[in-house]
Amino acid sequence: MGRVVGKIALVSGAASGIGAACARLLAAEGAKVMLVDLNDEMAASVLAKIRAAGGEAEYHHLDVTSEPCWEAAMAAMEARFGGLNIAVNCAGTSVTKLTFPTETGLDEWRRIVGINLEGTFLATKHQLALMMRTSPVVGSIINISSVLGIVGQPGIASYNASKGGVRLYSKSVALSCAQDRVNVRVNTIHPGFIRTPLLEQSIARFGDAEEGRKFYDNLQPIGHLGEPEDIANGALYLASDESRFVTGAELVIDGGFTAR
Ligand SMILES: NC(=O)c1ccc[n+]([C@@H]2O[C@H](COP(=O)([O-])OP(=O)(O)OC[C@H]3O[C@@H](n4cnc5c(N)ncnc54)[C@H](O)[C@@H]3O)[C@@H](O)[C@H]2O)c1
Repeated sequence: MGRVVGKIALVSGAASGIGAACARLLAAEGAKVMLVDLNDEMAASVLAKIRAAGGEAEYHHLDVTSEPCWEAAMAAMEARFGGLNIAVNCAGTSVTKLTFPTETGLDEWRRIVGINLEGTFLATKHQLALMMRTSPVVGSIINISSVLGIVGQPGIASYNASKGGVRLYSKSVALSCAQDRVNVRVNTIHPGFIRTPLLEQSIARFGDAEEGRKFYDNLQPIGHLGEPEDIANGALYLASDESRFVTGAELVIDGGFTAR
């Protein structure tokens, strides 16, 4: 307990799934946490649970694709908590249907890349600036990529491209910080298939839910899906000072999916 006591954290996509689990765990381990998301209703429920458990947290409505939203969120962070040490960028989305490359529409491509990659760029840019204004400067930015940012899958080229982009973008920012001796570490987490509302959408595409679940369970050599807490535990390690020598790294948490 208390692995991030005294730290100020922000979690995007905190209303659901992996982001909600990260926000809950960071608050339980002593961080003051700002939740940001588009979904006010679901965020309110996560916020209430954190507070009921004795955690300190606030919520700020934000669309990750909007630069003015990030500017306003950083101003709110500074006013409420006085700075920023930890950011976990979980907000993301996936394709609504599988498409052959010649059938992929530009609007759908831009929607996925806009939220997953440009959203991560805007988040990281503004979070890093606030971390550098925080005294002392001790920062950790954790960008949630995917195993599908490492290996390809047919039919979801825009998602693959967006998550691969998050992976290399994060390494470049990590190296800029290291080169300029800015004490902010930047790493990515690559979840395998995790039981969240986002994955439920993919399962629903099967028609038969039982069949869909079996398919996704069997994708993992370990034989079952991961839980949001499995990713939150990795984020907690990267957020805490235990990982002080870790930057530009990719933490794969996938039940062995990419080991083959
Ligand atoms: N679930 C998986 O199997 C899995 C696997 C690998 C990677 N990921 C990644 O993990 C992250 C979290 O996914 P999840 O499964 O918890 O999904 P989720 O759908 O449960 O949660 C995503 C959250 O992001 C928010 N969001 C979406 N667009 C937004 C925007 N423009 N601005 C602000 N908030 C926005 C949603 O409101 C939601 O609360 C995503 O980046 C996803 O790509 C998930």
